[in-house]
Amino acid sequence: MTSDTTDAFVAFDSVQKSYDGETLVVKDLNLSIGKGEFLTMLGPSGSGKTTCLMMLAGFETATHGEITLDGKPINNIPPHKRGIGMVFQNYALFPHMTVAENLAFPLEVRKIGRSEREEKIARALDMVQMGAFGGRRPAQLSGGQQQRIALARALVFEPELVLMDEPLGALDKQLRETLQFEITNLAHELGITTVYVTHDQTEALTMSDRVAVFDDGRIQQLAAPDQLYEQPQNSFVAQFIGENNTLMGTVSKIEGGVAEVTLDDGEVIDTVPVNVSQVGERTLVSIRPERVEFNKDRLHPDAHTLKAEVKEFIYMGDIYRTRLSVAGNEDFIIKTRNAPDQRRLKPGEMIEIGWRPEDCRALDA
Ligand SMILES: Nc1ncnc2c1ncn2[C@@H]1O[C@H](COP(=O)(O)OP(=O)(O)OP(=O)(O)O)[C@@H](O)[C@H]1O
Ligand SMILES: [Mg+2]
Repeated sequence: MTSDTTDAFVAFDSVQKSYDGETLVVKDLNLSIGKGEFLTMLGPSGSGKTTCLMMLAGFETATHGEITLDGKPINNIPPHKRGIGMVFQNYALFPHMTVAENLAFPLEVRKIGRSEREEKIARALDMVQMGAFGGRRPAQLSGGQQQRIALARALVFEPELVLMDEPLGALDKQLRETLQFEITNLAHELGITTVYVTHDQTEALTMSDRVAVFDDGRIQQLAAPDQLYEQPQNSFVAQFIGENNTLMGTVSKIEGGVAEVTLDDGEVIDTVPVNVSQVGERTLVSIRPERVEFNKDRLHPDAHTLKAEVKEFIYMGDIYRTRLSVAGNEDFIIKTRNAPDQRRLKPGEMIEIGWRPEDCRALDA
C-alpha cells in the first residue's frame, strides 16, 4: 500500500532532528504513511528510529520540518485527541494499578461504559495470552509479561494510530511469532495505522506493508518487503536485509539495461546496473545465496557460470548451506533446499555455479 502526501494519514515533511544543536540524528526525512498501513522502521542501533517515533508521538519536537497527522500539524492536536496507542522500548505500566486497571485506563479516559470496557479488556488480554493475570500488579510480572500488557494497553482502545518500539524484544521466539501474527491481523482487521520499530529484519519483512530501512538518520530505501529483499537500491540495504554475496569489480560496459562487470579476478559477468552509470566505476555486485545454482540441468540458459571451490557444507535441516570460494571471495554462500534429488557438496570439490543475470545487481562499491 503506497500513498502520496495528499492522502497520507501520517506525513513527515523535510524533518530534521538534533538533540544538541550540532549533530543531526534525523536528516531530511520525508515519509508518507497511508491510512491502515503497517509501516516498519528498520535499522541499526542509533540510526534514529526511536527519535522519529518520539516526534510522531509528540514527546520530542522536530528541529526543522513538519509532521502531520490526518493533514493537521501534530503540534496543533492536543495529546488526548491524537488517538495514538503506544508501546515504547521502556514499557511503562502504571505500577500502582493492576493489569486490568492499566487496560481500563485508556477506555475510561474515552468514556467507554463498564460492560464494553470489560469485554475489550478480556479480548486484549487474551490476545497477548495474559487472560489470567488481570488482578496482578506490574511488579508481580516478568519483563516479557509486562511487555505483553503494554501491548494490550496500546491496542485496547482500538486507536487510529499505533506506535510500537521493539514491542516484542523481550519475548521468546515462539511467543514473538504468535504475537507478530496477532498484531498484524488485528491492525488490518481494525484498520489501525501502525508505525513499528524493530531491528529484527525477519519481523520487519513478515509483518509490514512497507519497510523503511534507516541508516545514519536517513531512509536508505522504502519499499514493500519483497521489493526490498529482491531489489535493494544500494549496498547498505543489500547487506542489511537478508544474507547476501558480494563480488568486487569494475564496470566494463553499460548497454541496453545491462552492466558488464569485470570482476577483480578477471571474470566477466552481466549484471543489472542499479547505482552504477559509467564504464570504469568500481562496483559491489550482489547475489542472494538462494539464487545461485550449481546443478547444470537447473541452470537458466542465459546464466553466466563461474568456477567455485567448495569450502564447507552445513546441513541445516530444511536447507543446505554451502560455503564456496568464488572469484576471490572465500565467503560465498549458497543455499539449496533439502530435496530428495539435491546433491550434498563436498569440501574440496570444484563446481560451476551460475545465476540469472537479473538476480545479479551492480551496486555502489
Ligand atoms: N534524548 C537524547 N539526547 C541526546 N541524544 C539522543 C537522545 N536520544 C537519542 N539520542 C541520540 O540520537 C541518535 C539516534 O537515537 P535513536 O534512539 O533514535 O536510535 P534508534 O534507531 O532508536 O536505536 P536503537 O535501535 O538502539 O533503539 C543516537 O546517536 C542517540 O545517541
Ligand atoms: Mg530505539
